[in-house]
Amino acid sequence: MQAYYFRPWTTQLFLRAGIGEGMSVLDIGSGPGDVSFIAAEIVGPQGSVVGVERDPAAVEAARRRAEHTDIVTFANAELDEFDSDRRFDALVGRFVLTHLPDPATTLHRPTRLVRPGGIVVMHEMDMGNLDVSFPRCQIWNDCYALLVRLFQVHGLAPDFGRRLTNVFLDAGLPWPDVESGAMTGGKPGPTLHAWLGSAVQAVEPLLVRAGIELPENLTVDDSLTETLERAVSASRSLVMGNTHFGAWTRVDESHRSE
Ligand SMILES: C[S@@+](CC[C@H](N)C(=O)[O-])C[C@H]1O[C@@H](n2cnc3c(N)ncnc32)[C@H](O)[C@@H]1O
Repeated sequence: MQAYYFRPWTTQLFLRAGIGEGMSVLDIGSGPGDVSFIAAEIVGPQGSVVGVERDPAAVEAARRRAEHTDIVTFANAELDEFDSDRRFDALVGRFVLTHLPDPATTLHRPTRLVRPGGIVVMHEMDMGNLDVSFPRCQIWNDCYALLVRLFQVHGLAPDFGRRLTNVFLDAGLPWPDVESGAMTGGKPGPTLHAWLGSAVQAVEPLLVRAGIELPENLTVDDSLTETLERAVSASRSLVMGNTHFGAWTRVDESHRSE
């Protein structure tokens, strides 16, 4: 469900970064394969995509999804250990750097598998802004804050997106171009309400396990999307979701030979 909302951001970012037909792409932290399949659609039948993922169950699920295509393959490996004789035209990743204890060092390694002049493009979220409705819609802000809190209790930086320039530079890459945009909405209709409603519903067991208290009177079930929609309509608010950050650059020869 969440992948559906993020797909347009990732697709536009990859095109903007210069990924195109016929390219070979390495996708780091490929999970169930969504990003690899986005890349595959862009590179087409003359191109190829390799996803690298540490979780064997995710790799298995991704491989099942790739049964009918020979453009996309998946390797089960740690990023710090993955190696290849190939040189790729592009390295891509989404929502993976934020999970790494030392993102710059881990990013540096696979960038050495990118040919000189090749592209490195990373997509991350930023949830550093907690003021996500105007006029204030309390239930919207409360639900959003639950997602942020969950990141924090797991030791993840909710404001990772804005760190991308630093991570690229620390990985020894040239200064990246960066673009960002927030998911915004409020107009009656299900889109952004359904995003937040389904996100909170999906993580509810994790919230409970982490001991994060739900706001009083908040019922987390299938009705949450509708509750949010009603509240936002009543306060006539513009509401926001995550801010997406995309950073991209091109690898130069000095970087590769380090
Ligand atoms: C939040 S998921 C994102 C999956 C995918 N990129 C997407 O956007 O749909 C992050 C993925 O990175 C993987 N991952 C995290 N650290 C890794 C590492 N050191 N080596 C390989 N995979 C890793 C996780 O197992 C997880 O599947």
